Amino acid sequence: MASLRIREAKEGDCGDILRLIRELAEYEKLSDQVKISEEALRADGFGQNPFYHCLVAEILPAPGELQGPCMVGYGVYYFIYSTWKGRSIYLEDIYVMPEYRGQGIGSKIIKKVAEVALDKACSQLRLAVLDWNKRAIDLYKALQAQDLTEAEGWHFFCFEGEVMKELAGR
Ligand SMILES: CC(C)(COP(=O)(O)OP(=O)(O)OC[C@H]1O[C@@H](n2cnc3c(N)ncnc32)[C@H](O)[C@@H]1OP(=O)(O)O)[C@@H](O)C(=O)NCCC(=O)NCCS
Repeated sequence: MASLRIREAKEGDCGDILRLIRELAEYEKLSDQVKISEEALRADGFGQNPFYHCLVAEILPAPGELQGPCMVGYGVYYFIYSTWKGRSIYLEDIYVMPEYRGQGIGSKIIKKVAEVALDKACSQLRLAVLDWNKRAIDLYKALQAQDLTEAEGWHFFCFEGEVMKELAGR
């Protein structure tokens, strides 16, 4: 394989990141849920107080090749807080384009997020996965993640849109 680089995303990457976000949502059969725009990704990830951080995986051209690096995967994470465990990191998305899977790129992204977690004194890296996504579940288990739904029975809930406005009395 040509050489791979995993680096922090830059503002100018948001178009490519959005392309991959859409591919992941399509894989998850939830494309209709993607409401985010490139502008929002720029504003929310690259302002003074970023709401998220992003790592991108790119294939670098061999010496002499004319085309630029090609983005083939990404991971979006942000910091959360556990009242039980303190500083924590949450991996919101991880995605590698189909033709580049199975070459260790996804694991490298996860390991890089674990490095960031340790650098920021976080004690855990959390993520959620759809129950049918057995290959991703197997990968997380192979990397020794604990399945908290299995172990503790958690369900995820969400207040959104009109429901949230109603709650807030607006
Ligand atoms: C999950 C994913 C990010 C892993 O990236 P990757 O670069 O393929 O991962 P690695 O090469 O480090 O690890 C390979 C393992 O991932 C597993 N894997 C998980 N989902 C896979 C998929 N859709 N296609 C191929 N392999 C997949 C393989 O079983 C493989 O295990 P093996 O080497 O024992 O055969 C990537 O496969 C992907 O983008 N899948 C589709 C989107 C997705 O499921 N994202 C996670 C949502 S929570």
